[in-house]
Amino acid sequence: MYMSDQVKMYIDKSSWIRRMFEEGLELKKKFGQDKVFDLSLGNPDLPPPKEVKETLENIVKNYDPSYHRYMPNTGFPLVREVMAKKITQEQGVKVNFEEIIMTCGAAGALNVIFKTLLNPGEEVLFPSPYFVEYFFYAENHQGIPKPVPTKEDFSLDMDKIENAITSKTKIFLINSPNNPTGQIYSEEEIKELCDLLIKKSQKLGRPIYLVSDEPYRNLAFDNEKVPSIFQFYNNSIIAYSFSKELSLAGERIGFIAVHPEIENKNFILEGLTICNRILGFVNAPALAQRVVANCAFSKVNVDVYQKRRDIICNILNEAGISFIKPKGGFFIFPRIPIEDLKFCEILKEKLILAVPGRTFGSSNHIRLSFCVSEEILEKMRPNFLEACEKIQNYV
Ligand SMILES: Cc1ncc(COP(=O)(O)O)c(C=O)c1O
Repeated sequence: MYMSDQVKMYIDKSSWIRRMFEEGLELKKKFGQDKVFDLSLGNPDLPPPKEVKETLENIVKNYDPSYHRYMPNTGFPLVREVMAKKITQEQGVKVNFEEIIMTCGAAGALNVIFKTLLNPGEEVLFPSPYFVEYFFYAENHQGIPKPVPTKEDFSLDMDKIENAITSKTKIFLINSPNNPTGQIYSEEEIKELCDLLIKKSQKLGRPIYLVSDEPYRNLAFDNEKVPSIFQFYNNSIIAYSFSKELSLAGERIGFIAVHPEIENKNFILEGLTICNRILGFVNAPALAQRVVANCAFSKVNVDVYQKRRDIICNILNEAGISFIKPKGGFFIFPRIPIEDLKFCEILKEKLILAVPGRTFGSSNHIRLSFCVSEEILEKMRPNFLEACEKIQNYV
């Protein structure tokens, strides 16, 4: 064979995403960029906070040719100090710089964590609906991805989780605020999950790791609190990202934070460090590290996403489409009365692009992103309502 069978399968699996993307481009070419309502992409469109540009200017002003050299695989120690402070503040548990490893975003972080922890055939469990890349990341490292259904309101279903855990389960992966649902797991849910993982780990005689994928932690609405993970579970690791909270998705910058009391901490830290290197990341981008060190406590204007969320909820209410109101992030996952592919097809006739829910594990939903302006959403409103009227013929 001229290429890997597995990669060919991945291409097939994601072919319709590519098709949709290409069709979106075609529509934009045909009708004009501003006539197409593209709610399919989760590409942060808000400007980064002003501190990002100021930091870049200062870096250039104080430019030193040594800035571009190789560094320790874990990142600059001074940058890791800042991230340790940030995680200490967010988690309410003292974290030290040695427990931080700078990475190429959360995607890089998750791959490094999975490579470090997984033996072939071990399971990575995660609630469904889910971020589709989890499948690829787990399989990259010979893990078995295993989605576990959530309740109707996308909260964790502890009975289902308990039944899904087997002797092969190595990692439980959560993402809150969630892509695609926008839900935040409550402190009670997190505590209950951690108690269950402690009980199951004791039975297995080894830890099940709790990995928390946190690109949206600081995009919570209505003063919602995103609960700490570290306070409730020692064998936990956080995959953090600045792609969304600083709108720096293209810069590929994030980090791993390891619980200071994790079992076999030194081995795990050494493992993560070598995996960052041998997966080919080597280290997180030097320039981006300098930027986030200075902007780690800033964030984009989350009120803008919240206002857009309110407009979309209003449109969905007017259209009679049911949904669970997102508590954070920039996605909504409405329940639809007909199959997702057909629904998306009808939306497309009205020049609205959405992602079929099956990508995230449910063909009864679609995903809409709020990475477009309020004006565009308001312009889209009549088209969306017309599409939903047409859909009534298929119900
Ligand atoms: C749930 C989730 N995890 C991880 C990532 C990857 O983020 P990063 O850009 O930091 O690699 C994304 C990006 O969309 C995401 O939605």
